[in-house]
Amino acid sequence: MAERVGSLIAKEEEAFRSRRQRSDQMWKEAKAFVSKGVPSSFQDAPPQPIFIDRGKGSRVWDVDGNEYVDFHNGFGVMVVGHAHPLIVEALTERIRLGTHFAQPGADVKVVAEELARRFNQPQWRFANSGTEATLDAVRLARGFTGRDRIVKIEATYHGHHDSLMVSVEPKPDVMGPADQPASVPYYQGMPKAITDLTSVVGFNDLPQLERLFARYPGQIAALIVEPVMMNLGIVLPDDGYLAEAKEIAHRHGALLIFDEVKTGCTISPGGATERFGVTPDLVALAKAIGGGTPCGAIGGRADVMATIDDDKVAQFGTFNGNPLTMAAARTTLTRILTPAAYAHFDAISEVLAGGLREVIGERELPFHVTSLGARGSVTYRKERVRNYRDYLTIDKSWAYVSWLYQCNRGVLMAPFAEENWTLSVQHSEQDVQRYVDNFAELARDLTG
Ligand SMILES: Cc1ncc(COP(=O)(O)O)c(C=O)c1O
Repeated sequence: MAERVGSLIAKEEEAFRSRRQRSDQMWKEAKAFVSKGVPSSFQDAPPQPIFIDRGKGSRVWDVDGNEYVDFHNGFGVMVVGHAHPLIVEALTERIRLGTHFAQPGADVKVVAEELARRFNQPQWRFANSGTEATLDAVRLARGFTGRDRIVKIEATYHGHHDSLMVSVEPKPDVMGPADQPASVPYYQGMPKAITDLTSVVGFNDLPQLERLFARYPGQIAALIVEPVMMNLGIVLPDDGYLAEAKEIAHRHGALLIFDEVKTGCTISPGGATERFGVTPDLVALAKAIGGGTPCGAIGGRADVMATIDDDKVAQFGTFNGNPLTMAAARTTLTRILTPAAYAHFDAISEVLAGGLREVIGERELPFHVTSLGARGSVTYRKERVRNYRDYLTIDKSWAYVSWLYQCNRGVLMAPFAEENWTLSVQHSEQDVQRYVDNFAELARDLTG
């Protein structure tokens, strides 16, 4: 089977390129003025970036006129689907009234109150991206505890600020031993002094976490975890892991931060906090909460957030609480992501994951499927993945050939092997069936 992958990739790449010539042209032209020809390096994925023209409902169309059912959904943002009529209405109404004042407006309290209800956190502040949300959460933790050191999980991505761009995807030759991973900067330009203040532990390893806290007594401000790792396919926490991690952090006077940028409002109304019944001290949100506008939010315990009230910790931003973002967030949270929306995610996700499992079973493929609400992924290994070291055993060419098959057959997935799918309220059973049918075709071609 492994030999077939190479020839299938070559065939699919050729088909891909022949139907994306306008994208290729635009990419070449953009390179004259834009580094790598794309606005964020994450958009430069092989074989080449796909330039998108428009989206409606569960579909997007690229500049070559190819139509896709969208499972990429803007790296997991568009759970409302594209151009949702209620979002269009809310934003249109807001645009007519002015789009930016840098003064508070009525929607801010409504959005915060709804987030407080969902995430069980009394106080909120807003930002404009997941990066800003985790940056502020880390700063709050440092300000509250008076400590500098942060602990993160090996291979979590929390955005592009210095404190957390550590051991995001460390190469095997520098990542250190599994029971004491090294702190490896993700790319250049990160001060060593900052990287050294971030310690790294393997996911789902409580004894290792306990040892790390013992190594730095009184120095650790917070442990930040993505409660379900969603940048390695999907990696679930062991039963009890999150509660125990919180207990360990608290016993050592540190805070627990959940990065719910991807899990928030997608795997349940109140994200991982609700799904796993563990409330952290601080939570960072972004992506889905803004209905497709640039957004971020930080929620937290009253005493921790009081450091803002007391002018001990600064939380700033010209665009924080921007009226467009707040209008879209209010509509998303109060009118679109209703209990019916979550029931819909569960129903279509069952069709999708169930269909994929059937194919995997029939063809005896060494893969497995994980799904949680609007999110899910195929992992190209038989056994469950518990951490980054497990993940490294997977050959990434499986994910790549699968991505090409889907893309050439009208399904857009987020690029890169680590990504997962995102469903929207506008996806139908037929939409997810297309994904299953494409996967079945790949399985047939792989196994002969
Ligand atoms: C878990 C997680 N946290 C934070 C971020 C950063 O969010 P943003 O790209 O909005 O800055 C991402 C981005 O993908 C993410 O996956």
